[in-house]
Amino acid sequence: MPHDSGSRRALDKLARNRFYRRSAMSNKCLVTGAAGFIGSHLVDSLLQRGDIVVGVDNLKLGRTSNLAKALSHPRFRLVELDVNDVPALSALVAKESAAAPFDFAWHLAANSDIRAGVADFEVDFRDTFLTTHSLLKVLREHRIPRLAFASTSAIYGEHPGLMREDLGPLFPISNYGAMKLASEAAISAALEAFLERVWIFRFPNVVGSRATHGAIYDFVQKLKRNPAELEVLGDGTQEKPYFHVADLIEAMHFIVAQAGERLNFYNIGTAETVSSVRFMAESVVRLQAPGARIRFGAGNKGWVGDVPKFNYSIEKLKALGWSPRLTSDQAVNRAVAEIVEENRA
Ligand SMILES: NC(=O)c1ccc[n+]([C@@H]2O[C@H](COP(=O)([O-])OP(=O)(O)OC[C@H]3O[C@@H](n4cnc5c(N)ncnc54)[C@H](O)[C@@H]3O)[C@@H](O)[C@H]2O)c1
Repeated sequence: MPHDSGSRRALDKLARNRFYRRSAMSNKCLVTGAAGFIGSHLVDSLLQRGDIVVGVDNLKLGRTSNLAKALSHPRFRLVELDVNDVPALSALVAKESAAAPFDFAWHLAANSDIRAGVADFEVDFRDTFLTTHSLLKVLREHRIPRLAFASTSAIYGEHPGLMREDLGPLFPISNYGAMKLASEAAISAALEAFLERVWIFRFPNVVGSRATHGAIYDFVQKLKRNPAELEVLGDGTQEKPYFHVADLIEAMHFIVAQAGERLNFYNIGTAETVSSVRFMAESVVRLQAPGARIRFGAGNKGWVGDVPKFNYSIEKLKALGWSPRLTSDQAVNRAVAEIVEENRA
């Protein structure tokens, strides 16, 4: 029977309360990509939950300023390190395990610049796939049993209609998507061999404060350089779901607390709402440089490997008991306000 919105909200609240009670158990966590956009928000949330957190990042894309608050926390430590330097990562884990072993790893280190991965074939192999392989070696050596992995909608490639988790065969169209899919495969094999439990999250485009990349961030930077005109890649008709990082962090914790299979894999996204690039550009112009002219390019792809239109099903996540608070357009507007504000200087 369909629920009216009042009882739907009450059910949502019940599920969220149940999740927060369960999440009272704290972990000792290794977080790769900790200084990045999503990684830094994740670190804050883990510290808030009572976890002990060791973050690693090579700081190529991430920034220590993203961790300004966390760095003064007694349960947090950031180490500048390349995940592919396996001896260094292993030595760090050994040293940090002296008092108590790690029981959880969150793997977010990756190349997040999809276009850089198109220009240089090595980038996604090294930072998106090899980091997974390297981390798995260290997890095996130090018997760290649980792994949560940041995967992506890009593994699905181009598909008409809603992308469900059981869609296949999968043929990604970017190196980035291919290397994430390969990472999922490597993690699945590691689960068979030595891991105890795995959570794979397939994110859509995530937006919000501390962005290190992405269309909103790019638009803000372009308008700072030239407040009179905004040049947009593609004709503005690309439509994708945009998801706010606050919702994303909450959804990941909810899934870890509630999804009890050995291999858990979930799309995380807006409830089938999307935003166009035109909407994003107009939203940025309104706050960053009112009156700026928007100049669109040609074609509906921003770059090679860009999936111009997609949306995916989050029925599996909803069935677990979690729904996003914001629509895609609301997430975009909130992120635009946050990114414009923090890039004012
Ligand atoms: N932002 C999105 O829209 C989105 C969408 C889908 C999936 N994801 C995934 O979520 C994760 C976080 O993405 P983000 O948006 O925060 O990007 P980000 O670039 O801000 O964060 C990634 C971090 O990983 C670090 N890193 C990269 N290679 C490394 C290496 N070899 N060793 C150590 N550190 C390394 C970078 O310096 C950076 O701080 C990534 O795995 C990304 O693929 C993001």
